[in-house]
This record gives sequence, structure tokens and C-alpha cells, in this order.
Amino acid sequence: MAKEQQYDQETQHSKLMIDHDYDGIKELDNPPPPWLMMIFYGTIIWSVFYVFYYNIFDGPSQEDEYNTELAEAKASVPQSTFDETKITLLADAAVLSEGEKMYASKACDACHGVTNIGPNLTDEFWIHGNNIANVFKVIKYGIPEKGMTPFKDQMTDEQIQQLSSYVISKMKGMATANTKGPQGDKYE
Ligand code: HEC
Repeated sequence: MAKEQQYDQETQHSKLMIDHDYDGIKELDNPPPPWLMMIFYGTIIWSVFYVFYYNIFDGPSQEDEYNTELAEAKASVPQSTFDETKITLLADAAVLSEGEKMYASKACDACHGVTNIGPNLTDEFWIHGNNIANVFKVIKYGIPEKGMTPFKDQMTDEQIQQLSSYVISKMKGMATANTKGPQGDKYE
């Protein structure tokens, strides 16, 4: 009996005992610690605000939040002011020499000179026209079905503009013995 009393003092079972009895089975009211209950009730209170804000007053859904963040991120990326529909021919000597370097580094000559896979770029005959907008588009988007590589993933628009300017203003007359004959229409 002494042992039972000691056990009861330590555990306080007799105080926690709920006053009901089912076929000799008894129940203790043994609540969790207050801090845990606070969190528990806190979540219930929180849920009320949550339901009102998001489900009743139409707070932003996850999709809305995603779209807003995406729009903000897009706005924060500096937009190129380049407009390929209003492109101009550049004449600056430094720019044209940049164009010449690109012509060499992108191995344009491999098709437009050495192997003659592509038309020559040194005469007055052009398949797609020799104004800056046309040449720019051919180099940027390529003519894949005819074997002209698109260069849009390898160069920026500004670089393609420089390269196009070089092709138009500097290459005329650079033909070699190997150069392909005229193709396309004559442009003065
Ligand atoms: C893999 C071969 C190949 C490479 C590399 C290539 N081209 Fe071409 N290019 C072609 C072919 C083929 C055409 C003809 C397309 C057609 O018939 O419509 C062409 C067409 C062109 C035209 C239009 C010519 C016209 O008569 O209208 C230009 C300008 C041009 N290329 C510039 C370049 C430049 C600049 C480079 C390097 C950045 C380059 N190409 C690299 C194959 C190539």
C-alpha cells in the first residue's frame, strides 16, 4: 500500500482521474503542457484568419503570388532597347573592325568562301537583299532549310548588327578565285 501511495504522489493519478468508469476501465485527464496547447490553439485562431483572408475575401492564391513574383523578376531584368525592325547600318570604323573579327571568329568563311556552301557575300547579287534589316535577319535567324546557320544563340543583337554592317559595307569586291558566281538579284 505504501508503494501505491508513493506512486500516486509522484504521478498524481488520483487527482487526474476522471469520474467515469467503464467496466472497470478508468480514464485520466492528462493534458499536454501549456506551451503545446498554446501552439495548438494558436493554429486554430490562425486558421480562422486564414480562411477569411484566402477563401472568403479572395486573398492571392499561390498561382497569383507566383505570377506577381514572375512579373517582378521579369521587370527587374534589364530589357534590351534593341529594335530589330528599326535597325540601322553602322559605319563607325571600330564597329566595322569588330564585325570583321566576328566574321573570322564565327567561321562564316567556311561556307561563304572556302567551301562555297553558301553564296558569296562579295558581289552585288543577294538572294535575300542587301539592306541591313535583311542581312541582320538572315544572320540572326538563319535559313536552316538552305543550310545557313542561325546565330541568335551565339551572338547578341548588337553584335549581329555590327557583323551585318561589316558584311554589307566592307566585303564587296573581296572575291577570290575560289568565290562562287552571282546568286540572287543585283543590288547596287
Ligand atoms: C554551314 C554553312 C554556313 C555558315 C557557317 C554560314 N552561312 Fe551564311 N549562308 C549559308 C547558306 C547555304 C546560305 C544561302 C541561304 C539561301 O539560299 O537562302 C547563306 C546565306 C547567307 C546570307 C544571305 C546571302 C544572300 O545572298 O542573300 C548572309 C548575309 C550570310 N549567309 C551571312 C553569314 C555570316 C555573316 C555567317 C557567319 C556568322 C554565315 N553566313 C555563316 C551557309 C552558311
